[in-house]
Amino acid sequence: MAVDYTTRDGVAVITLNNPPVNGLGLSTRIGIMDGLARAERDPAISAIVLTGSGTAFSGGADITEFNTPKALQEPTLATVIRAVEASAKPVVAAIHSVAMGGGLELALGAHYRVGVPGAQIALPEVKLGLLPGAGGTQRLPRAIGLEAALNMIVSGATVMSEKLTDSGLFDEMAEGDVLEAALAFARRVAEKDAGGTHPRLRDRKIQHENAAGFIQFSRNSVAAVAKPFPAPGKCIDAIEAGVLKGFDHGLAFERECFLALVQTPESRALRHAFFGERAASKIPDVPSDTPVRAIKQVAVIGAGTMGGGIAMNFVNAGLPVMLLETKPEALERGLATIRKNYETTVKKGKLTQEALETRMALITPTLSYDDLAGADLIVEAVFEELGVKEQVFRRLDEIAKPGAILASNTSTLDLNKIAAFTTRPGDVVGMHFFSPANVMKLLEVVRGEHTAKDVLATVMQVAKRIKKTAVVSGVCDGFIGNRMIEQYIRQALFMLEEGALPAQIDGAIERFGFAMGPFRMSDLAGNDIGWAIRKRRYAEQPGMHYSRIADRLCETGRFGQKTGGGWYDYRPGDRTARPSALVDEMIVAYSGEIGCARREIGDDEIVERLVFALVNEGAKILAEGIASKASDIDMVYLTGYGFPLWRGGPMLHADTVGLYNVERAMARYASQQNGDAWEIAPLVTELAKAGRGFNG
Ligand SMILES: NC(=O)c1ccc[n+]([C@@H]2O[C@H](COP(=O)([O-])OP(=O)(O)OC[C@H]3O[C@@H](n4cnc5c(N)ncnc54)[C@H](O)[C@@H]3O)[C@@H](O)[C@H]2O)c1
Repeated sequence: MAVDYTTRDGVAVITLNNPPVNGLGLSTRIGIMDGLARAERDPAISAIVLTGSGTAFSGGADITEFNTPKALQEPTLATVIRAVEASAKPVVAAIHSVAMGGGLELALGAHYRVGVPGAQIALPEVKLGLLPGAGGTQRLPRAIGLEAALNMIVSGATVMSEKLTDSGLFDEMAEGDVLEAALAFARRVAEKDAGGTHPRLRDRKIQHENAAGFIQFSRNSVAAVAKPFPAPGKCIDAIEAGVLKGFDHGLAFERECFLALVQTPESRALRHAFFGERAASKIPDVPSDTPVRAIKQVAVIGAGTMGGGIAMNFVNAGLPVMLLETKPEALERGLATIRKNYETTVKKGKLTQEALETRMALITPTLSYDDLAGADLIVEAVFEELGVKEQVFRRLDEIAKPGAILASNTSTLDLNKIAAFTTRPGDVVGMHFFSPANVMKLLEVVRGEHTAKDVLATVMQVAKRIKKTAVVSGVCDGFIGNRMIEQYIRQALFMLEEGALPAQIDGAIERFGFAMGPFRMSDLAGNDIGWAIRKRRYAEQPGMHYSRIADRLCETGRFGQKTGGGWYDYRPGDRTARPSALVDEMIVAYSGEIGCARREIGDDEIVERLVFALVNEGAKILAEGIASKASDIDMVYLTGYGFPLWRGGPMLHADTVGLYNVERAMARYASQQNGDAWEIAPLVTELAKAGRGFNG
């Protein structure tokens, strides 16, 4: 039963019982309606308490019902709230633990609210590109005042109940058992209200000196930060409608805004990312009840750029780390960098000095592999050379305890080869962190041919502990993210020789919403990295057509920010990318040299060629089973590559454009200069023909 009905000395208790957070799915909504009707009929009942079992009053909508007809089926939440509000017997909401979204809206429909400290109160719909669609924008301002409510609704932020004690939301803040307090409260009000009406938030006046002025001010400040998301502005519109034209008008307008927002690509993208994050942790052939291995002690090998950041992730989560290097100097340097990173956080006021010391104390430096014998998880982050990895993994095989997970942070090497250096390939997995590893959310979990299912399940769980978005990738060159970005960069370089300049390409894709265009990005990462990868390509796949223009740049030593110049010029101590006349001339000269007549390339073409190159490779990755679902690819791009969140990732973006249109554009580019780079993925053609998208 999703809802329990009991009686306590003349008070009916309606208890939501839909774990984990008492989501307001259809059966819960029906249960509340039934409970209200039953209480109404029973002459022995004088009041009703509405509460939630377990660890929530209610977390709001049932997310499993999202985008299904059930979500709109009567009784809808609005109907339930109307019934609560219209109840002839007073309804008291007993709020504890969590009252969010629809859960809070339900409580706002009650005549009275009794709370306890420690409850999380929020209307977080804006985070999914929506607004509270069951009266939240109308009742919350009437409960806690215009300004406080507007801030909560527009930000979606969680406020602890104790901070709302005197806000007008609660009629009583209890200290002990919320149900007992609510029962006592209910009996009192039943007597007090007897024969009369019960207070309803809809009848409360909004007290504000200059409501219209305040709303306009908020609208301006929100517009500056919310771009390009429409939801925060709509929240304000809905609040305004209620403030200026009354509750009923506001409620109707709120509904209208909600239905409009559900249809927006921005909301679709946010919901896609929300569900994509959850879906990423589910691996099709690894059941969710797969037993996991206990991870209590971690070891990291290599205290360089990546190793240090990786170690920080674990100690931030309270896991002790052994940090191994070959030389004392390297170890000291690594530890000093970690400390410096923490000190920067302390200076920003985001970490206390004590916490810094606690974290540093969790790191045990060592030069001896013998010290790793007790580690449950060992992450290797040494030089990117197969020979070095071989040495390390052979040694690990000798000393690691049975059942220890052996992970490699390799970005380009074949994980199956690395696993074969051990006698336990089932225990070997890739944990591909992104730089800076202590900051970037993305973790590609690379599944080798023999990686055991419980190893995968364990790593996915560890990823959650260290607050990463983990996406499983099969073994291939570049895994999901870098394999796709190579095609994107290839197009960027072709466009340089065809007629564009770095600043134009970066500008176009940054206006599309990328955090950084390919050339600014490359200058930041170091142009020598891509050069090394291309050299390998030229040797391994001599038939692959690549523009040599970036090689020319590298031959002049312009590796990017670190050398004071790359695609752009940089002034000492200043990271501002300034177009370089020298480089631009070099590009134009290169076009002449290869006999390419430069032409004007529009922003649309730039964006399409870059983004559709990602989509095309993504489709191949999907067809090959390297990624198990399109949303996994989108999560990689949203969390690791600065793809604009409001577009939901390359694959969802392609769906939004329509694969028919995407395929036509790809075919057009395939017929142009450098068109041989467009081998259209059969999956794109197939889905376009079927009128479908990557995400259904
Ligand atoms: N830098 C990045 O952006 C990035 C991103 C993802 C993955 N990676 C991968 O992470 C790994 C490390 O890269 P990095 O950028 O941190 O390199 P780095 O050169 O900064 O650090 C490597 C460290 O490993 C140490 N080392 C070398 N051989 C060792 C051994 N046998 N035993 C113990 N320590 C040893 C070195 O002393 C050095 O401190 C590589 O596999 C790389 O491909 C790097």
